[in-house]
Amino acid sequence: MKTIVIIDFGSQYSRLIARRVRESNTFCEVIAHDAGREILDDQDVIGVILSGGPNSVYDENSPLAPTWVFDAGVPVLGICYGMQLIAHQLGGKVEPGTEREYGHAVVHKDGPDNILFDGLENEVPVWMSHGDRIEVLPPGFRSMAYTENSPLAVMGNDEGTMFGIQFHPEVVHTPQGAEILKNFVFGVCKAVGDWTPANFVSDSVARIREQVGDGKVICALSGGVDSTVAAALIHRAIGDRLTCIFVDNGLMRKGEADRVQNVFAAQLGVNLIFIDGTERFLSVLKDVSDPEIKRKAIGAEFIKIFDEVATEIGEVDYLAQGTVYPDVIESISTTSSASHVIKSHHNVGGLPDHMDLALVEPLRYMFKDEVRQAGRELGLTPQSVNRQPFPGPGLAIRIMGDVTHEKLEILREVDWIVIDEIKNDGLYDKLWQSFAVLTNTRTVGVMGDKRTYQYVVAIRAVTSDDAMTADWARLPYDTLARISNRIVNEVDEVNRVVLDITSKPPGTIEWE
Ligand code: XMP
Repeated sequence: MKTIVIIDFGSQYSRLIARRVRESNTFCEVIAHDAGREILDDQDVIGVILSGGPNSVYDENSPLAPTWVFDAGVPVLGICYGMQLIAHQLGGKVEPGTEREYGHAVVHKDGPDNILFDGLENEVPVWMSHGDRIEVLPPGFRSMAYTENSPLAVMGNDEGTMFGIQFHPEVVHTPQGAEILKNFVFGVCKAVGDWTPANFVSDSVARIREQVGDGKVICALSGGVDSTVAAALIHRAIGDRLTCIFVDNGLMRKGEADRVQNVFAAQLGVNLIFIDGTERFLSVLKDVSDPEIKRKAIGAEFIKIFDEVATEIGEVDYLAQGTVYPDVIESISTTSSASHVIKSHHNVGGLPDHMDLALVEPLRYMFKDEVRQAGRELGLTPQSVNRQPFPGPGLAIRIMGDVTHEKLEILREVDWIVIDEIKNDGLYDKLWQSFAVLTNTRTVGVMGDKRTYQYVVAIRAVTSDDAMTADWARLPYDTLARISNRIVNEVDEVNRVVLDITSKPPGTIEWE
């Protein structure tokens, strides 16, 4: 697979650079700035991008680009700090700017032949965020564009193989940034656009086969997109040597446990062990109302059951996990080269030591939308592939106070109505999540001529890209009206519906 390597210098935008490159159907990997040159042997590297970062090149201990970047014979693009590194390391001069340039700016093309700006106007709005600037170009480089505050906003060498840009092409505030990155990826690096769903499925299947060999894998299913696609990929790679375990914790949405069974056993033909753990989970949750204790109790019980089942299965070598690429990048950014291990460990979430299973992470190189594309490629239905995320502790963290059979039944009915109406109005795929919360407040109402004293439920619907931040969704009043009407009419135990209009931060998406 032709690969662009993105070297991370601690920029908050490294992930975005990777996303943009992937959107050009080109595989890319983010690596730590101190990673060795092995990647050149392991991958078909066709270009390197040096990310931005918070440092100044002339500070002591500032990270430098590894020397292999400049002698690998592949094109290099430096973004912001990455540009300054090229200047600094190849004989130019970087100085602290007199004014920090932050925010919108307009770059003007300087000279006719600038391949990065192919197809763009002479003036391009961009997003700047830098203090230092390049005073002297390295030998063999020339200026290709300028802004009012940066006489050297873009530079390139005479061979047309190395470029530096002072602004951030990866952010949305640089509207043509994706074009500029595409020009680098296709025009300079000669990518062929081979990172397609069919290829990332086959690539993943090949990696799984290579890693697992004749080994056996177990995979815990949650019903969510990630574990579903991970299991489907592993099944394609090793067939019956995969066993999936689905523990119904009794905290799922209406119909969910049946759906999971149906998808795996009937649609995919996967070995599936189905455990009904409802009573066990409800008994550890009895009289527990503290959110953290609920979460811990559910996590611990799950591990207990999983361990019991795994022991019954006998010899197993690997545990499948749905780690996705943003998790991997995050760990590279925060912990440099030792990161992979730390994150994996963290994700296992406390499996007992004696299980001693190696991890298979088939989604490790995919972004969430690529996971969905892979799912479609594997023949999973839109219902499986486009599901909104659902938390591991399930409805337990959407029921305020203690969790009982009765409250779960109420919330399942309410939640079903919310999703039904959201889907009917074509909103489901536009929302990150939409659901109901059963509060522990009761209020007085009137139904017919009778006084009622029943539960309040809250509707929570948010838009988000990654759940790190979220905004409350502006659902149409008509949709809200139908949801509210149906809930109070169809669910006897509820007589009032409220809407949560809190963004994250300061709120979280879930109430507990
Ligand atoms: P919060 O409530 O922290 O949620 O804004 C962010 C995202 O994470 C989901 N979530 C969880 N997912 N196990 C999970 O698998 C959990 O314990 C858990 N808690 C929250 C939540 O639904 C949202 O998408």
